[in-house]
Amino acid sequence: MRTISIISQKGGAGKTTLALNLAVVARSAGCSVAIFDTDPQASAYQWSTWRDGDEPPVIDCGSPTLLPVKLKQAAKDGVDLAIIDTPPHADIMAREAAKAADLMLIPCKPQAFDIASAQTSAELARSSRKDAFVVLMGGPQRAAVVYSDVADVIEGTDEMEGMGVALAPVMLTQRAAYHHSIAQGQTVTEFEPDGKAAEEVNNLWNWLTTVIDIPLGHTKGENA
Ligand SMILES: Nc1ncnc2c1ncn2[C@@H]1O[C@H](COP(=O)(O)OP(=O)(O)OP(=O)(O)O)[C@@H](O)[C@H]1O
Ligand SMILES: [Mg+2]
Repeated sequence: MRTISIISQKGGAGKTTLALNLAVVARSAGCSVAIFDTDPQASAYQWSTWRDGDEPPVIDCGSPTLLPVKLKQAAKDGVDLAIIDTPPHADIMAREAAKAADLMLIPCKPQAFDIASAQTSAELARSSRKDAFVVLMGGPQRAAVVYSDVADVIEGTDEMEGMGVALAPVMLTQRAAYHHSIAQGQTVTEFEPDGKAAEEVNNLWNWLTTVIDIPLGHTKGENA
């Protein structure tokens, strides 16, 4: 089993949106996936109740001491990919999720205050010695100068030290499909499979499979 932890101290950074969209696209790719909702707000869990029990399962896990136990059980049960959604302003839970991670994703709006606060998660990735990528969320579709500046701040330049984490080459831009789909207990690849948001999520998944070796195949044939 591989574990992706989605961590950002900033509220509303897009953690849950990223977790749910990745989980659904992973499942469509034939991966047995479980989402671990470690946020007392339980947004991911709420979403699963709107789906009427449809896969992927969302495991409610509000206690940092329970997280490793529940992850171990999931691995025993044959889960290929665990995706951990974390709360904002988290300390102990963020550390536990980082510890469990094979890869950390740090969702972040391409805006100054948000990037500044992503620094905390970047430091957590460094201190936990985990590979981590910032995933830009909710930014404009076309803003080449903004994105080039953001990349410099995150990855650094010859003149400026970066945050010590990399920037994912795919972003999920500001699109209504992201919030409309969640409200219906879906994600963008289900809500509008041929839409631009779905294209972004598929591209993100395809890129992810090149940076982390995710076992596929347990659910083959169940997704038609
Ligand atoms: N790419 C996007 N385009 C449009 N809306 C988005 C996008 N990403 C996230 N949102 C919206 O931003 C809001 C916050 O997203 P989300 O709940 O995923 O953030 P979060 O980091 O999980 O928040 P919290 O810290 O409260 O757990 C939601 O209303 C969501 O629909
Ligand atoms: Mg959330």
